[in-house]
Amino acid sequence: MKAAASILDLIGNTPIIKLPQSITDSAANLYCKLEFLNPSGSVKDRMAKHIILKEQERGTIKPGDTICDNTSGNAGISVAMVAAVAGYKSVFTTPQKTSQEKVDLIKSFGAEVIITPTEVTADDPRHCYQVAKKLAADRGYYWLNQYDNPLNPEAHYEVTGPEIWEQTEGKLTHFVMGIGTGGTISGVAKYLKEKNSAIEVIGVDPVGSLFEAIVAKRPLPEPQLYIVEGIGTDRLVNAFWPQYVDQVIQVSDNDSFLAARFLARTCGLSVGGSTGTLFHAVRQICRELDESAYVLFLACDTGIRYITKYFSNRWMEEHNFRLEETDLSGK
Ligand SMILES: Cc1ncc(COP(=O)(O)O)c(C=O)c1O
Repeated sequence: MKAAASILDLIGNTPIIKLPQSITDSAANLYCKLEFLNPSGSVKDRMAKHIILKEQERGTIKPGDTICDNTSGNAGISVAMVAAVAGYKSVFTTPQKTSQEKVDLIKSFGAEVIITPTEVTADDPRHCYQVAKKLAADRGYYWLNQYDNPLNPEAHYEVTGPEIWEQTEGKLTHFVMGIGTGGTISGVAKYLKEKNSAIEVIGVDPVGSLFEAIVAKRPLPEPQLYIVEGIGTDRLVNAFWPQYVDQVIQVSDNDSFLAARFLARTCGLSVGGSTGTLFHAVRQICRELDESAYVLFLACDTGIRYITKYFSNRWMEEHNFRLEETDLSGK
């Protein structure tokens, strides 16, 4: 019988699809890698598997231990899934803005979730990062610390980068990715640039986050709140390697949500808000390019996780977001 030995063996090797030129109004070749087809439904399965198996191999953790981390949701879902298979307990902190769908998914794998306030600064003891750190220290849990753990970008340098290089057959000219912990873009960018230094790597960041200023080497502004989940930062993080990123484009919440809805309605791709952020930037990038360009972006997670949010007209109206794109070509 042809069968995988474990759900963990089905992480990665996600397919790439070519998107129609009509959606960018550009001759550039546009491709999307469907990370929502990972077993738990997001790109974060890759780092969860890599870190837990690596730490187990090193003897840092052993089955029966408890893994703890702060998460914007998807990492919690992925780590909870891997922990369930590998025999660990898991506990997560997540800000109040995280969708109920993601919180419930984490719990469905048997994990515990602690909700923390969204509107507090990164150094506040109530911030999800500080609560997870203290919980681990007080109770002897393993703090996975995805935002600063070098094994996070390493997962993408060792696995995602080579996978993308092989699938794109040396043709890639632009790689575009949202930045959350920075693990995905950093590991993939390092690998791709070692193969072909001409590949341009463009990061995408919500308005109010600090990654754009970090890459532009500008003084850091005061971080502002944004609603999109999974990307952006309010503090410096070590999983992000800015030296491999050529530029960062910032996108508003409203443009992110409309772009996510647009992808579902035009291409049948049900994606989350961060993929909308990415796609809005991709349309701007493609407008400057011609048929010699091969652009790839990742569909980081699924729209199913945000059905009660960006995909609900009522939620959009309650948050004073416009429902229609002013210009579908992004011009
Ligand atoms: C929906 C979503 N998009 C993008 C990202 C960014 O990935 P990374 O943390 O590797 O930068 C995340 C990370 O949590 C995410 O949940």
